[in-house]
Amino acid sequence: MFKSYHKLISVAAMLTLTSVSAIAASDASRTYENGKKVIDGGMIYPVKNGQTAGYYLNTQKAYKDIKFGRPATANEMKAWDIDVMYDGTGLPEGKGSVEEGDEIYEAKCASCHFDFGAGGSGYPALQQGNAYEMQKTLMLQRLKPDDDGPHRNFGSYWPYASTLFWYIKTGMPHPAPMTLTNDETYALVAYIISINEIKIDGEELDDDFVLSKDNFLKIVMPNKDGFVPKIEGKDGLENTRKFYDNPKNFGGNKERCMKDCFKGEPKVARIQGVGISEYAPPLSSKKEKPAKKEGATGGNEAKTTYDASCAVCHATDAMGAPAVGDKKAWVSVLKKGIDKVYENGIKGINGMPPKGGTALDDAKFKAVVDYMIKASK
Ligand code: HEC
Ligand code: HEC
Repeated sequence: MFKSYHKLISVAAMLTLTSVSAIAASDASRTYENGKKVIDGGMIYPVKNGQTAGYYLNTQKAYKDIKFGRPATANEMKAWDIDVMYDGTGLPEGKGSVEEGDEIYEAKCASCHFDFGAGGSGYPALQQGNAYEMQKTLMLQRLKPDDDGPHRNFGSYWPYASTLFWYIKTGMPHPAPMTLTNDETYALVAYIISINEIKIDGEELDDDFVLSKDNFLKIVMPNKDGFVPKIEGKDGLENTRKFYDNPKNFGGNKERCMKDCFKGEPKVARIQGVGISEYAPPLSSKKEKPAKKEGATGGNEAKTTYDASCAVCHATDAMGAPAVGDKKAWVSVLKKGIDKVYENGIKGINGMPPKGGTALDDAKFKAVVDYMIKASK
């Protein structure tokens, strides 16, 4: 063992590792090095000619002074890189229409992101209304903070639509990422652009608008210049000072604080009943699938209730109610997000009496609302 230790030292000299003790073999007699305990995993790897090491040595050709690993080859990087850049680099061939996107969305996305991307139940909304109007309430041009904002939502917040393509292609649908074709992804982007009312060449998108690699860069996001706060320029120094004087601008919301900033008891969920008392699990946000929707499965109960109690006002827009069957009207209602729409229906709003004048419980009322939304596509 002593001999192999000496061979090890020469291996160590070859390596550009900082500590010899770090690669010491797990010989019981060498548990201490310079009075410090040597911690290793008890593994000895063969190197060559009977030599061993405490680390696995890559025997591939050395690169410069680094005696392990090698640079990735051009092909390895190409195969790995599926990024899509703001300037269009990486956009694949393919195309898809708003209408196709609508169908794919229904089948693969609406169960979490809700109809027309309204979000709810902990899932992010994919639109919150007209992206140009929402962008104005964004707090991002942070020298003019606006209490209405920020609407951190794709349409009003993201600077480039290429990120949307990449995000959907690589990350969605959440339970089965990387399952969408390029055509499907183009179609979904087109659909999400359309529900955010973003214009291309000055026009909102029709159902038959086709998005492809060729016209993709015509999507100009409303917040293109606002994503990074503009604090340079003519009064750059003064603006920068103002910017950093306001803790709101970098995530805080009250005073500046560098020490003992957290006051009160942190809220942590503790695991109950298993005898663990010192362990605080990481904070988590609750994300559950929305409860199964009766309306969505064509549940007749919802339709019957609608016919009996809601149709009197919602069959047409004569009463000022969003008419069932009027897609545009419901797209616009759902801009508030589905949770808000439920709440308005339950509490009543303007000409809409609380729960439409019925005594339905909340779940049943919501099912009727879901039915009305489904019937309006
Ligand atoms: C099972 C639920 C589920 C399904 C189905 C699903 N998503 Fe998502 N989606 C999520 C969750 C959760 C997030 C947030 C992920 C995060 O923040 O890490 C998300 C985030 C997103 C975002 C980013 C939103 C933002 O503003 O940050 C987009 C865009 C998106 N999804 C599109 C889609 C599309 C398109 C589909 C259908 C192909 C889809 N999702 C299907 C759960 C889902
Ligand atoms: C007396 C007429 C009337 C009846 C009955 C009625 N509604 Fe309404 N409803 C309205 C009007 C008017 C609005 C538009 C309110 C506004 O936003 O100004 C509306 C709006 C809504 C909205 C959209 C809320 C929002 O956030 O914009 C929902 C959802 C809704 N009604 C559901 C129902 C359901 C479900 C029923 C039956 C159980 C029902 N309504 C019965 C008149 C009615």
